[in-house]
Amino acid sequence: MKEITGNSSRVFEGHYSDLGDWKRGDIDYFVVPQRWDDYTTEEHAIWRDLYHRQMEILPGRAISLFMDNLKELGIAADRIPDFDDINKILKPKTGWEVVGVPGPIPVEPFFELLANRRFPVGTFIRTREQFDYIQEPDVFHDLFGHVPILFDPVFADYMEAYGKGGLKAADHKAVYMIGRLYWYTVEFGLIQEEDGLRIYGAGILSSPTESVFSLESDSPNRIKFDVKRLLRSRFFIDDFQDTYHVIESFDELFEATKPDFLPYYDEVRKLPTIQPPELAESDVVLHKGTGEYARKAAENRAERQKQKQEQEAARKAE
Ligand code: PHE
Ligand code: CO
Repeated sequence: MKEITGNSSRVFEGHYSDLGDWKRGDIDYFVVPQRWDDYTTEEHAIWRDLYHRQMEILPGRAISLFMDNLKELGIAADRIPDFDDINKILKPKTGWEVVGVPGPIPVEPFFELLANRRFPVGTFIRTREQFDYIQEPDVFHDLFGHVPILFDPVFADYMEAYGKGGLKAADHKAVYMIGRLYWYTVEFGLIQEEDGLRIYGAGILSSPTESVFSLESDSPNRIKFDVKRLLRSRFFIDDFQDTYHVIESFDELFEATKPDFLPYYDEVRKLPTIQPPELAESDVVLHKGTGEYARKAAENRAERQKQKQEQEAARKAE
């Protein structure tokens, strides 16, 4: 277990990109205790407010099994759940358990946890200023967003297979490609259910604003899921998605990712990257986005970039 100094299990302290002396097989190297008793009243209140806001938005928008499983898991409305309580229900039913991590951990240890049916959950919670979206996965994103759909046996197996596939990708310098798959399915995936389009991606399920935007805005593209196309698709982590990839079922997703990916990686390396708002000729387009939001976001991004450069220049001039 990694030694975390100070009270950092409550505060996100940056990416743990440092592998330390982690080696494959050190499954628990980045795992930390949740220390549930240390959460403050305000932190529980942030959970409660996020929970209630999502409960107003998600019925009829989230994949149908999500709402049922949330209840079954005993994910409480009024306080941050205790991981031990979650695991008592999750483990016997799914073979998965949640483990605490201090923040984003390096990809290989992350893949390894998934490959062993352990889902890493950030122990800290966002602040009120980060209510709508944070880039670093906190306990609300990880538990509320990711855990309920692990009750689906096919999705549960997909996540394990993904972890194993990730380790294989790491051996072939293909992490950036398999990472795109995670992003556009596990984090930002949509699914076509009988009653309409629904959300299954945790990045959307845990974001009040994107839950509405992803389904209802005219701006983003919505295209049919195609695994090789996905491996070519770049993404931005700091804004709503410009393109959503829609599956028909978890079976479709699991089947499409069963083949050996090494030939896919070779193929994709030779093809140009597809930019987030861009459509490819082979795309089956369910909704062609107006791109209105994407254009504004690109301007904002350029503006942020400029500000950063100016700040840096000013700093150097001092
Ligand atoms: N089948 C993929 C491979 O051989 C691994 C994988 C499984 C990737 C599930 C994604 C999801 O590399
Ligand atoms: Co996530």
